[in-house]
Amino acid sequence: MKSILIGLVILQCTISIYAAHSQSFLYYAEQVVEEEEPFVTAFAEDDAAADHNSDLFYYYVEQWPGSYCDTKKGCCYPSTGKPATNFSIHGLWPTWLNGSWPENCNPNSLYDESKISYLIERMQSEWPTLSCPSNNGSKFWKHEWEKHGTCSIFDQCAYFESTLNIKDRVNFLQALENAGIKPDGNFYEVEAIKEAIKAGVGVTPLIECNSDASKVSQLYQIYICVDLNGKDIIECPTTVQRNCNTTVEFPPF
Ligand SMILES: *[C@@H]1O[C@H](CO)[C@@H](O)[C@H](O)[C@H]1NC(C)=O
Ligand SMILES: *[C@@H]1O[C@H](CO)[C@@H](O)[C@H](O)[C@H]1NC(C)=O
Ligand SMILES: *[C@@H]1O[C@H](CO)[C@@H](O)[C@H](O)[C@H]1NC(C)=O
Ligand SMILES: *[C@@H]1O[C@H](CO)[C@@H](O)[C@H](O)[C@H]1NC(C)=O
Repeated sequence: MKSILIGLVILQCTISIYAAHSQSFLYYAEQVVEEEEPFVTAFAEDDAAADHNSDLFYYYVEQWPGSYCDTKKGCCYPSTGKPATNFSIHGLWPTWLNGSWPENCNPNSLYDESKISYLIERMQSEWPTLSCPSNNGSKFWKHEWEKHGTCSIFDQCAYFESTLNIKDRVNFLQALENAGIKPDGNFYEVEAIKEAIKAGVGVTPLIECNSDASKVSQLYQIYICVDLNGKDIIECPTTVQRNCNTTVEFPPF
């Protein structure tokens, strides 16, 4: 527990996290009161809960907006305007080694935008929503926090900041372009896409595909794995088949 806390020191929000939680950790250690903080609750159940955290890692997932929008269902640009022609964040998803995942781990920890106001500009740019009707992204971020974030080791501030920091370190579009794979509507081998990401980012990704309006298989999401501390990019401990044809379209956006 303590080493995980120390691991958060790089985050801007650490000071407040530490201040908010150190007291709760004391309470936890002494079992004086019931925990209210989400961060603590994730650990606070009992030894079995600690064991189950040792089975956790994260999928860090980015989506290609062209493939989101290209579907039968379509997309809506957020109220802040058309997102960049780039992969954008879908989420950071706690996952167990056996491939299944926890979700909605703390119904008491509702999304609170006031805790992350200093991150909103980055989120609008790197984590834009494409859902309809057009909206400002809060619904998407709320969903990601409440479903996935509450099962991480982080509080809200650290969850969103850690995820944004991963995006700063991996440039999937550049890695693909370095291998001649571009969002030009052409078809590419999924194996070549994986190799390009491996060459650019250092680990083999999982590739998820979806279908465009005429049922053509296309590159939709790229997953890489991240250690529970949210910092170390690792080879994925588990792989799941993600609906791809052997060759897939990389549509423009
Ligand atoms: C996967 O592992 C977790 C944690 O060890 C456990 O709680 C869960 O029941 C397991 N799920 C399956 C489907 O085996
Ligand atoms: C988004 O809109 C909701 C109301 O629908 C509002 O409560 C929230 O503050 C807005 N957030 C941002 C980042 O604009
Ligand atoms: C795409 O996002 C990466 C970060 O993941 C960033 O480094 C790069 O500059 C962005 N590229 C474009 C064309 O916006
Ligand atoms: C799957 O790929 C083959 C060529 O490799 C192509 O002929 C076929 O149309 C593709 N199917 C879909 C659903 O994209």
